[in-house]
Amino acid sequence: MSNQIQFRESIKKLRQQKLEDFIQDHISNEKQILESSFVQKYNEIKDSSWPIIQTYNDFYNLPKALITECREHHNFCPDIWFKDIEADAYWHSKTRLETEISSYDSYELDWILQHKEIFQNQNVIDFACHTGHMSFFCLEQGAKKVLGVDVRQSHVDAAKGVQEILKISNEVLEFKVADLHDYSNTARLCQDKDTVLLFGIMYHVHDHVNILNAVLQPSVKHVIIEVGNATSIVDLPEPLIHWKLETTEKHDAGSDSFGKKVIPIGYGNLSWYKYIMAYFDFDLIDHANGIFYNHHSRKKEFEEIRSTYIFKRR
Ligand SMILES: C[S@@+](CC[C@H](N)C(=O)[O-])C[C@H]1O[C@@H](n2cnc3c(N)ncnc32)[C@H](O)[C@@H]1O
Repeated sequence: MSNQIQFRESIKKLRQQKLEDFIQDHISNEKQILESSFVQKYNEIKDSSWPIIQTYNDFYNLPKALITECREHHNFCPDIWFKDIEADAYWHSKTRLETEISSYDSYELDWILQHKEIFQNQNVIDFACHTGHMSFFCLEQGAKKVLGVDVRQSHVDAAKGVQEILKISNEVLEFKVADLHDYSNTARLCQDKDTVLLFGIMYHVHDHVNILNAVLQPSVKHVIIEVGNATSIVDLPEPLIHWKLETTEKHDAGSDSFGKKVIPIGYGNLSWYKYIMAYFDFDLIDHANGIFYNHHSRKKEFEEIRSTYIFKRR
């Protein structure tokens, strides 16, 4: 096996193993927190004559009549609590952690891998990297070096945390805070990059052309743009941008770089991207409108049709 393949295989294995450890630790912490809220709830229900409890087990040592009263009149006992709340918390923490630590395993990117040259031995920048899932994905797919950048410090910290757990050297992977709207910095970051990833960001901005102008430095050969929910305009022949306003308070929204909490954001359709990218001497080489899991929640009910475009320099 080549070094590169060995390296990728070991990241994959480690990721899986660390994910399981992480989940176990997190869930046992969560269980303790839930046990104390169970006790708190018991205190709300309890009459002054009832015994004090500290744990689920103490509850089962209460007189039978009290247990029956709790169960029948208050619909309250550890197993009901577990079913309603703990199971829910278990599910949430598991999916959240899986999302944080894993790359796009569930995100159907197989078709991107038909274009292996985009990653293999390439210097990649992953803008709006969130907790780094695409950055890890690129590394697994053979990138020489990856830089993940996001405007939110908390996302960069989470990505660095995962990197630390996976023991991936800074020589091949780095995460930094940066704002795409800072065009001179964006241009500087792209100066030595072969491949640019713009996943989940171009529908959180108002200044698409300026951003592309900064990003498309002479070294850049490929750009992958994931443009989010395909709206009714996606396949219309005329180039269109669908505008709306969004609040910047959500963790995955656009940034309030200009001090505004509500910002205009534009969703460009395929035709629009083809026009503007042609202006910059890039051609579309592949695109997909697919039903992907929402990778932030991995919930089926949030399945979205998302469009992703691959452009190559002429
Ligand atoms: C919808 S999430 C997409 C995350 C990831 N790329 C993905 O596709 O799953 C949008 C991300 O863009 C980041 N972001 C928003 N505005 C940004 C900006 N001006 N510069 C850099 N990152 C930005 C957010 O912090 C968030 O992590």
